[in-house]
Amino acid sequence: MRKVAPDLDVRVWPGQMGNVGDIEYCAAWLPPPGVLKSLPNLRVIMSLGAGADAILGDPTLPANIPIIRVNDPDLTGRMTEYIVLHVLMHHRQQRRIDANQRNRIWDSFPTHAAKDLSVGIMGMGVMGADSAVRLRDIGFRVAGWSRSRKEIPGIGSFAGDAEFDAFLARTDILVSLLPATPDTDGIINRAAIRKLSRKGPFGAPVVINAGRGRQQVADDILAALDAGELHAATLDVFMPEPLPPDSPLWTHPRVTVTPHCAADSDPETICAYVAANIRRHQRGAKLENLVDRARGY
Ligand code: NAP
Ligand code: GLV
Repeated sequence: MRKVAPDLDVRVWPGQMGNVGDIEYCAAWLPPPGVLKSLPNLRVIMSLGAGADAILGDPTLPANIPIIRVNDPDLTGRMTEYIVLHVLMHHRQQRRIDANQRNRIWDSFPTHAAKDLSVGIMGMGVMGADSAVRLRDIGFRVAGWSRSRKEIPGIGSFAGDAEFDAFLARTDILVSLLPATPDTDGIINRAAIRKLSRKGPFGAPVVINAGRGRQQVADDILAALDAGELHAATLDVFMPEPLPPDSPLWTHPRVTVTPHCAADSDPETICAYVAANIRRHQRGAKLENLVDRARGY
């Protein structure tokens, strides 16, 4: 922060706060409850990531202070890389090929084209829409599900609870890029998995969750895998994090675990974003990418 905005007086929690009454702007990722409340002259809170659930989850969060989240092409691009990588990994059966190579097995199984698979993205915001466009351009049949309808050429749009089941029914690979809210908690559960398409080339669907761990019911995913209702899963987010060493997700042969790294906030990029928001607020310009506290994202 000092490098990208040397003119700003930067204080660091917990050791270098000085007089807390001086602090007007706070950038935070997982602020311990009570820290934000302890800043009497706070004017803007900025999440250091796209999600602001950890900030909104602070029961002592001061009311009426705007909260800004990250919407930056660097972060979005990283997420799109991750989603495209894992959709392709399942589509091209790369884990099977890796296992075969370890055992020196030349197994030429049937392959499929991208057009043979329907990808469904839950959460068609900044990240979901970008991933959807890239996957569409590769040739997958792509649709999204969000609260409001979207108009993106070549990408189907399902909106709201009333269209959730129809969205699941056409989806071979389910991707979650939803924010963590009370409405999305546990949304990837056994009932939802059973509603996914079984018409795809693997005879059972695939789940990729890079939204938040609270969205998946881990026991339901494991049971669905073992019952043949789910073909495979890629999980980047967990409840809790880090994923405990004794979780069966680590060793399940059809689960890919990644350590919440789908889209990391690059320090320099995000500090420049934070500094730009501070300057915007200081000159009285309208703040962008505000979190809607009532919606929860
Ligand atoms: P965003 O722009 O706010 O998009 C959120 C999307 O979710 C919107 O399309 C919204 O619908 C939809 N949505 C929210 N609640 C819904 C509900 N109840 N039913 C249906 N749709 C719902 O957020 P973003 O920037 O794309 O980021 C999405 C999430 O990705 C973040 O909140 C965070 O949890 C996660 N993330 C993870 C990582 C990682 O490394 N794993 C990195 C960055 C972000 P509307 O468009 O209709 O409002
Ligand atoms: C990371 O999880 C983010 O929300 O940016």
